[in-house]
Amino acid sequence: MNTFQIRPEIHLLDKAGELTELFPLTERDLVFTSRHVYQNYFDGAFAPARVIFHTDYGTGEPSDRFFETMLDDIDLDRYDRIIAIGGGTILDTAKLLTLRRIRPVGDLFDKKFPAEKVRSLILVPTTCGTGSEVTNVSILEFVDRHTKFGLAVDALYADHAVLIPELIEKLPFSVFATSSIDAFIHAIESYVSPKATVFSEMYSKKAMEMILNGYMKIAGEGHAVLPSLTKDFLTASCYGGIAFGNAGTGPVHAMSYPLSGTYHVPHGESNYVFFTTVFHKYQELKPDGKIAELNRFLGNILGCTPDDVYTELEKLFNQIITKKSLSEYGVTEEDLPAFAENVCTKQGRLMQNTYTPLSYDVILEMFRSLM
Ligand SMILES: [Fe+2]
Repeated sequence: MNTFQIRPEIHLLDKAGELTELFPLTERDLVFTSRHVYQNYFDGAFAPARVIFHTDYGTGEPSDRFFETMLDDIDLDRYDRIIAIGGGTILDTAKLLTLRRIRPVGDLFDKKFPAEKVRSLILVPTTCGTGSEVTNVSILEFVDRHTKFGLAVDALYADHAVLIPELIEKLPFSVFATSSIDAFIHAIESYVSPKATVFSEMYSKKAMEMILNGYMKIAGEGHAVLPSLTKDFLTASCYGGIAFGNAGTGPVHAMSYPLSGTYHVPHGESNYVFFTTVFHKYQELKPDGKIAELNRFLGNILGCTPDDVYTELEKLFNQIITKKSLSEYGVTEEDLPAFAENVCTKQGRLMQNTYTPLSYDVILEMFRSLM
């Protein structure tokens, strides 16, 4: 049986100012955003809604502690609708705010009680990577567990996803790089996932093509060309979200979570550490499956033979983002068995989407090869 769905209604706006024309706000609305985005694009535009900023509750990517602090400050009963404008941190956290019961958040993620949506949700991404605006997934770092976990339940779907390319025009290049690489990895992991369908594959392929063509343009013409590509990258990120929202991401994400959770490496950057290693391993273990078709498709875009695709991809991506070794992030040899154990026993939601089975020993060997 093939199933495929796109749940939120998707809107593409030219200007940030059109958001409140499309969705007039009331005092029953809670807006969750960053101070930077608010001041640059929306200053004063959200009255009479309450506006909260994520930096009031912590820095970096979302953790359970950050989230609990935030919940202490908000009387959620006062709001019928959440409007979140931001990167993955903000969008993923906002999804949880729509639920009737949220605490203890660890129990929610362990599915000890059901997720029941009681508020409507509008998501507006300000990076071009997470695809969170169209998925039913929320990712949170659990500080005491030293890793990240995802909760994927239909209650987390937004009602509206709003794409506004203007919001990513001033993105620092490093944030653009890590977020767009994440989008590419969503597209490619979902493409080889056993849950892929002809529908999700179409979104995966289009996202990969748009991102690679954009990267080749940046590699050839320099960073100054980026503002002309914002609509493409934002759309590609959304396509990647639609693809992995249906077919899932896999071992690249699973291996990146212990690294990003323990050493606080940005999500897209952490994924990039593992990306080509995992796909080289797929190639080695099962070269004749769907990966052969994928490599022909990528080779056509990159202008190389299917055998050289991952080497050429790494050359291209290295012009966008610097790949570091695990030891450069502070990872030690002693960390690696626990990392591999975490992948095999705690990231089952992702590992079930692997292209071909990867044992503990293979995963540990891949971690070791990246030191
Ligand atoms: Fe991701």
